[in-house]
Formats: sequence, C-alpha cells, structure tokens
Amino acid sequence: MEKLEAAMAKARERRKAVLREAAAPSRKTAVAVPERSGPKVDWATVPTVPFVAARAKRFRISSLFGGRDATPYDLLRSRALRMMEDNSWKRMAVTSPEAACGKSTVAMNLALSIARQKDFRVMLFDFDFRRPNLHKIIGHTPDHSMHEVLSGDVPFFDVAKRISDNLIVGLNAGPGKNPAELFQSERAKDILDAIQADWQPDVIIIDTPPMLGSDDHVNLMNKTDCALLVIAAEMSKLPNVDFCEKELGQLTNVLGIVLNKCRYPDDTTGYSYYG
Ligand SMILES: Nc1ncnc2c1ncn2[C@@H]1O[C@H](COP(=O)(O)OP(=O)(O)O)[C@@H](O)[C@H]1O
Ligand SMILES: [Mg+2]
Repeated sequence: MEKLEAAMAKARERRKAVLREAAAPSRKTAVAVPERSGPKVDWATVPTVPFVAARAKRFRISSLFGGRDATPYDLLRSRALRMMEDNSWKRMAVTSPEAACGKSTVAMNLALSIARQKDFRVMLFDFDFRRPNLHKIIGHTPDHSMHEVLSGDVPFFDVAKRISDNLIVGLNAGPGKNPAELFQSERAKDILDAIQADWQPDVIIIDTPPMLGSDDHVNLMNKTDCALLVIAAEMSKLPNVDFCEKELGQLTNVLGIVLNKCRYPDDTTGYSYYG
C-alpha cells in the first residue's frame, strides 16, 4: 500500500513537472507558472447533492467513509490511476459480462475513493441507459438525464450534481430510448468530448450496461480509453468472462478484472492497518 502511494505521489510530481515545462515560454523568461490550466466551468457553481451515510451503508458504498472497508477500493484506485496516468487515459468504463455483478457499486466506490485525493477532479457518469441505478444508490432523481445530454437535448450543467468539491455525477431519472444508436452517433461523441474539454476532469468513470445483455458496449467502448471488467464470484460463468475479456480487449484497453462478491476474502496479510 505504501509503495503504491509513493508511486502515485511520484507520478503526480512527474505530471506536474511536464505541465510546468509545457507552460513555460522559455527557461530564462519563466516567472510564475500555473500548475495546470483550469476548467472553463467553475465546479463550485454546480448544485450539491449530499450522500447520506445510512444510504451509503445500505448500498455498500464503503469508500464514502474511508478506513478498512474502503481498502480494496483504495488499492484498485491506486493501480488504476497509475496505469491511466502512465498512458494519459482519462475515461474509464466499468462493465461486466452479466447484470448485477456490481458495476454500479464498484464505479461509485472507485469515484469516491479517487475523490478523497483532493487534487483530482473526478466525474462519474451513468451510461447504463437500460437500467440506470446510480441515482438510486445516491438517492437523488435528477430533473433531466444523461441520455438527454448525449442526445443534445439538455446541457450537461442541467444534469450535473456535486457530491463533493471534486466529484461531479451525471445521473438519469429513468431509462433512455435506443441506447445502442445513441452511443453510435457522432453527436454523442462530440458532446462527451466537449464536456471533457470544458470541465477538465482528471478522470471520468463511466458506469455501463452488461456486455452480454445488448450491443450498447460496442459503440460505447470506443469512446473510452480503458475499461474494468467486474465479475461476480459464484455467478459469472467462466466462458462468459473469457469471451467478454477478449471482446473488451478489441474495443478498448482492459485495465483489469475485478472479482466482486467474494465470500472468502484473502486475509493472508495477517494484520490490519485499521484494526
Ligand atoms: N461485494 C458485494 N457483496 C455483496 N453484494 C454486492 C457486492 N457488490 C454489489 N452487491 C450488490 O449486488 C447488487 C447488484 O449490484 P450493482 O452494483 O447494482 O450491479 P450492476 O450495476 O452490475 O448491475 C446490489 O444489490 C448490490 O448492493
Ligand atoms: Mg448498474
């Protein structure tokens, strides 16, 4: 864990140095150099939605609190961020072979875990337009939905909600029509690019539909830089996992596989940091 944190700190320093170098007109004339350019939209102007602790507990969102229960997500965060920084990846999809493997749970926990690092700006989008449920986990039904944003009917600002200073979510009020066609459209791609350019998040986490339920992922994954495949112990079938990992690898960069719902955690470290 300490090694990972040290590696993260090193990577952050490296990134800051690169940004400083790029921003400096010349070594002789450089005076005050901004650490990084700011977003066009002020994140502080986005309405906040509180994440109630009791609700987080009910939905297994342990990253809200930190501590021992958040450790698996913090480890996942460190590894994912390191790979993303090394490759200049910004958009990470969270997917799974079948429904109910824990995609939304993992995506929410990961977003909160990254957002505990205050120098990161994080966005979490619910792109499971067939069975959106991040709004149920958070306990907030928005007036408009992300599928309306991607269709170009509603500006992102009208959907965006702030969970904390550096975490913004894009939720849905309910399912959207024809998601596969929506993901295929050039318009959706342009809108996603514009959000990224205007809001300048360091990481965008995208909750997605299961791969085996539809063809949504085929046109969604090419709008991401990388993806995590969440599988559920005693539920996901090995041939499905194998098939999805291969297919995902053809559509985007596979960050790794998360084994969720494991009843027998690995306690071989023999002690706990948080005991
Ligand atoms: N590690 C876990 N252990 C037990 N139940 C879990 C775990 N992760 C998620 N769940 C539960 O499984 C159900 C489906 O999770 P969800 O994140 O909505 O899956 P998906 O988004 O893949 O459909 C939810 O009731 C959730 O609370
Ligand atoms: Mg889900």
